[in-house]
Amino acid sequence: MSIPTKQLALVLEEERGPLVIKHIDVPKPGPEEILVRIEAAGLNPGDWKVVRLGKLIDKYPVILGFDAAGVAVEVGSNVKDYAVGDRVLFQGWFDFATREAHGHYKQYSIAIPEVRAKFPASLSFEEAATIPSGLAAAALPLYSRVELAPSAKLIPPWEEGGRGYYAGKPFFVLGGASSIGQYVIQLARLSGFSPIITTASLHNTDLLKSLGATHVLDRKLPSETLVKEACEIAGGPLEVVFDAVSLPDTLVIGYQATAPTGTFVKVNSESIPGVENPEKKVHFGRGLFNAPFNAAVSLSLLAKLPELLENGDIKPNRVEVIPGGLRGVDPGLDRLQNNEVSAVKLVVKPQETTV
Ligand SMILES: NC(=O)c1ccc[n+]([C@@H]2O[C@H](COP(=O)([O-])OP(=O)(O)OC[C@H]3O[C@@H](n4cnc5c(N)ncnc54)[C@H](OP(=O)(O)O)[C@@H]3O)[C@@H](O)[C@H]2O)c1
Repeated sequence: MSIPTKQLALVLEEERGPLVIKHIDVPKPGPEEILVRIEAAGLNPGDWKVVRLGKLIDKYPVILGFDAAGVAVEVGSNVKDYAVGDRVLFQGWFDFATREAHGHYKQYSIAIPEVRAKFPASLSFEEAATIPSGLAAAALPLYSRVELAPSAKLIPPWEEGGRGYYAGKPFFVLGGASSIGQYVIQLARLSGFSPIITTASLHNTDLLKSLGATHVLDRKLPSETLVKEACEIAGGPLEVVFDAVSLPDTLVIGYQATAPTGTFVKVNSESIPGVENPEKKVHFGRGLFNAPFNAAVSLSLLAKLPELLENGDIKPNRVEVIPGGLRGVDPGLDRLQNNEVSAVKLVVKPQETTV
C-alpha cells in the first residue's frame, strides 16, 4: 500500500478554539517507531474537557484522540517484533518534557514502543480502538508497583502467579458501565476478587455480570444506601475500592466504603467533597502508558495483551460508530459532555473524512 505524503487531521488550534480539519504531513517513523494507518479512533471524556473547558492541555495547537487502532504501514529500522500489515492498537501520549500531547485524530500516526500492542483478527478495528485508555486507566492505578506510583500496587493477573491471587477478597467499583469501569471489572475478575460489586444503571446489569460483576447496585439509590449495601455484601468496608467515574457523589460513596486500612482509587483530580485530609490511602490514577511511574507495568501488560484478547480474558467495550470520519468527533464530544452515552464507546473512522 502506498503511503501518501499528506493526510487529514482534526486540529484544536488554540485553547477552547474550534476543532478544524486540516491537511498535515504524514510523519516518517523513527528507528523504534511504527507508522499506522488509523482505521478507528475512540473518543474520551477528557477530549471534551480540553476542547470545551481548556483543561488538561497547555500547548497548542494540539491534535487530541488518545485511542486508536489500525494497520502498520511502515516500521522503523530497529523494530523487530512488528511487520507491515500488523494490526496495532495504541494510545496517544504526553511528552512530559515539552508538555505536548500527541493524539491520533488523524489518518496516519506514529505508535511509539511505550503505548502500542498488536491485536488479533477476532477484534474489529473499532473494538480495538476502545481499549488503550480505558484499559490503561483501569490497570495502571491497580497494578503499577513503582513506589511513587499512584496505585493500589496489586499483583497483576497477567504476570506469573497473579491470576486469582486475590481470591475471596471483595472489590467495589463505582461506575462499572463506564469504559474504564468495564475494564476494572474484568481485571478484578482475573485477579480473583469476589464478590465484585458495582454501581450502574440497571439496564446494564447483564452486560456487567457477563464481564465479571457479581452484584450490580442501582447507581440512582441514595449514597448512604449504596455505601451500606456495598459494605453488607462485602462483609464490611473494603480494602480496594475503584471509582471509575469520580463524580462528587461517587467520590463520597467510594471513600466511605473504603476500610481505614484500604486503598481508594479515583480517576479525576477533584478532591473528595467534605474530606480535606484523607485518613485513608487515596490515589489519583493516571491512565497514561508512557507516564514514567507506569512504564514497567505498561510494557508487561501490552506484551501480554494480544494473548488476553485472543483468549477472551479481556473483552473490548461495545462500540457505536459515529459517521462522518473525524467530523464525527465534535458531535460525539457533545454527547459525552451531556451524559448521553451508556456502556458504549464512541468511535470514528478517520479514513472516511472528507475535505
Ligand atoms: N485518570 C485517567 O487517566 C483517565 C483516563 C481516561 C478517562 N478518565 C476520566 O474517567 C472518567 C470516566 O471515563 P470513561 O471514558 O470510562 O467514561 P464513559 O465511558 O464515558 O462513562 C459513561 C458511563 O458513566 C456512568 N456513570 C455516570 N454517572 C454515574 C454515577 N453517578 N454512578 C455510576 N456510574 C455513572 C454511566 O453509567 P450507566 O450507563 O450505567 O448509567 C455511563 O455508562 C471521566 O471523567 C474521564 O475524564 C480519566
